[in-house]
Amino acid sequence: MIASKIIAHRGLSSLAPENTLAAITLAAEHGIEWIEIDAIALGDGSIVMWHDNSIDRCSDGTGSMAEHSAQSITNLDCGSWFSEHHCGEKMVAIEPAIELIQSLGLGLNLEIKLYENSAATVVAPVLEALLKHWQDFDKLIISSFDRAALDYCQLHAPQIQRGKLYREIPGNWQEELKQLAAVSLHCKYQHLTAQQAVAVKAQGYDLYCYTVNDPSAVSELWQWGIDAIITDYPQRFLSTTGLIEN
Ligand code: G3P
Ligand code: MG
Repeated sequence: MIASKIIAHRGLSSLAPENTLAAITLAAEHGIEWIEIDAIALGDGSIVMWHDNSIDRCSDGTGSMAEHSAQSITNLDCGSWFSEHHCGEKMVAIEPAIELIQSLGLGLNLEIKLYENSAATVVAPVLEALLKHWQDFDKLIISSFDRAALDYCQLHAPQIQRGKLYREIPGNWQEELKQLAAVSLHCKYQHLTAQQAVAVKAQGYDLYCYTVNDPSAVSELWQWGIDAIITDYPQRFLSTTGLIEN
């Protein structure tokens, strides 16, 4: 389903602060065709493009996501932690992020993280934004570690492709993917075995591995039949194509 084998993790997160408009734009500028971003809820129910369940690591503020609102994050600096050059970068709502990604023609792997929130709280506004702005559904896949998030997607927007995220692939993966009518399985590459990869492919699913940053680790994975890698450093994998400079 994913035409590009290289998916930029949290945008081009090795060259710009993760999950920001800058990281999205930079990915497109460097010829990357697909990106992965994370969507989570703030305390007031607004949905933002963000990974952690707190703002401590990637902003100049502190506190859990539940303690913040669309209003309280307005003046945060979400770029200086990464580099001086990115000072003033904002935490953005999921809707403008989706609009930008669509306008750039990128493929999107949108990962939904529930943390302590219900599926309806997080997924309903994400689906609303996607159904409003997204045009090419072949270039969209929603993934999640949270089964409830994917169940919600299946019920309310079955036309959007779903992928199940695992750290380690569990014994019941076939049952779960079938129930979800998922198109793909996404797993942590360090735990994947050749046998598992072959089994996933034999069942007709796409297989994505995260977060592959070491090119020497990847040749084995391609041999096992994986379809794509999710990486912080697409430049390490694309440099031989001349698409991107290190
Ligand atoms: O979607 C792959 C990967 O992003 C999952 O882990 O913690 O980086 O969101 P994490
Ligand atoms: Mg993610």
